[in-house]
Amino acid sequence: MKIVVAKNYEELSLQAANKVADIVKSKQDVVLGLPTGSTPLGMYKDLIDMNKEGKLSFKDVTTFNLDEYESLPKEDENSYYRFMWDNFFSHIDIDRQRTNIPNGMASNVEEECKDYERRIEDVGGIDLMVLGIGNNGHIGFNEPSSYFAGATHRVKLHENTIEANSRFFGSLDKVPKHAVTMGIKSIMQCRSVMILASGKGKADAIKKALEGPITPELPASVLQLHRDLTVIVDEEAASLLEKR
Ligand code: GLP
Repeated sequence: MKIVVAKNYEELSLQAANKVADIVKSKQDVVLGLPTGSTPLGMYKDLIDMNKEGKLSFKDVTTFNLDEYESLPKEDENSYYRFMWDNFFSHIDIDRQRTNIPNGMASNVEEECKDYERRIEDVGGIDLMVLGIGNNGHIGFNEPSSYFAGATHRVKLHENTIEANSRFFGSLDKVPKHAVTMGIKSIMQCRSVMILASGKGKADAIKKALEGPITPELPASVLQLHRDLTVIVDEEAASLLEKR
């Protein structure tokens, strides 16, 4: 595990963007796993700048998003589909056909989950998975649980997550109760994983994830077992870490 403690959010974002840029430049037809949330926004901005300045092209890049709310139409302002197009894809030279986001509107969710896994397999797996972390230690929408979930699956969101994400929806009851997420197995199978966390609110989850017991009660703790994990945190998110 490599831990990078950035001075602040700007530096964290640039370090994360550089890591993505390095792999995009070094491998043809690279496959990226991408997160939503406020944390990766700075990284997406930096990657957009690199693309606009002609330093980086996404033409041959394939992407798989981690998760999507269930029952929100793509065009809903809170769908992760909208998030990705508004904050990243619309501003870069990516091929739409190469972008993948779970379909939260699928009539047969189980089939959609299987198909998502098949699509990942068909392109040879994910080279670099970028993750954020929930306050409760969730990754994607893999919530604290008594077991580690395997492949892409449907989840019931925890009250804690619904509350945390209600800031985007205006009220608690507008937040979907279910979502589709890549599972812990799907994440652990990625060749490299990079997790980002910023701010005091994430310090406890980061400490437990990196220095606590490996338990499905704190889903991100499983990343301690990944053979190529990079953690990029700012000073505040790193503040409770003993080993740094
Ligand atoms: C959501 C997403 C996660 C994300 C988390 C943290 O629940 N499903 O993938 O990591 O929020 O988001 P933020 O970066 O806004 O704190």
